[in-house]
Amino acid sequence: MNWIVVNDEKEMAKAGADFLLSRIINKPELLLGLATGSTPVGMYRLMIEAYRKGEADFSRVRTYNLDEYYPILKSDVNSYVRFMRKNLFDHINIPRENTHLPNGEAKDGEAEAKAYEAMIAEVGYMDVQLLGIGQNGHIGFNEPDDKLCVNTHVTALTENTVAANARFFDSPDCVPKHALTMGIGTIMKAKEILLLANGKNKHAAIEALKDDTVTTAIPATLLKLHPNVTIVCDKAAFEG
Ligand code: F6R
Repeated sequence: MNWIVVNDEKEMAKAGADFLLSRIINKPELLLGLATGSTPVGMYRLMIEAYRKGEADFSRVRTYNLDEYYPILKSDVNSYVRFMRKNLFDHINIPRENTHLPNGEAKDGEAEAKAYEAMIAEVGYMDVQLLGIGQNGHIGFNEPDDKLCVNTHVTALTENTVAANARFFDSPDCVPKHALTMGIGTIMKAKEILLLANGKNKHAAIEALKDDTVTTAIPATLLKLHPNVTIVCDKAAFEG
């Protein structure tokens, strides 16, 4: 794992944006796996700025998001598809048809999961996968468990994750209890992985990435088996 430890969230956003923009310059038709949540918001802002300054072209990039709540209406303010439009897609020149998220409105979640995995398999999996990390070490919505799913699937969110995400909703009762998420295998088949983390509350999860062990109880530890992972984290996440 390549570690880049920076001072604060601002520097994390800059290092993350530089990383992704350099990959897009090298390969304009990049297959890019994206994440939602608070962590990448500053980085997305810098990517938008780069586009506005004429330094970045997203016209050939294809994006595939890690996950989406299930079930959820696309029009719901908390849907990840709305999040992505608001925080990135509506402000850059990526054609809407090049952006993909699991469909939270699908009638049959399992069938949607299979179709999403098949679509990603068809393009040959991601060139670069962006990840945040849960306080409990989840990646995507692959929550700590005895067994983890390889492929895209419907998953129940843990209490910890529902509580962490409640800040975006009117009350914890409104947080969806399920999600569609890429599996650990879908993520691990990316050629390159960029994980961002900031803040003290991510320290325990980041600490677990430093030693030489893997456990499904902290799903992010499985990234140690991947040959090309870069972690950009701030001091608070790294040192606690
Ligand atoms: C989001 C995702 C999640 C988040 C994680 C951290 O698409 O897959 O794994 O990356 O829950 O969330 P934040 O960034 O809000 O702390």
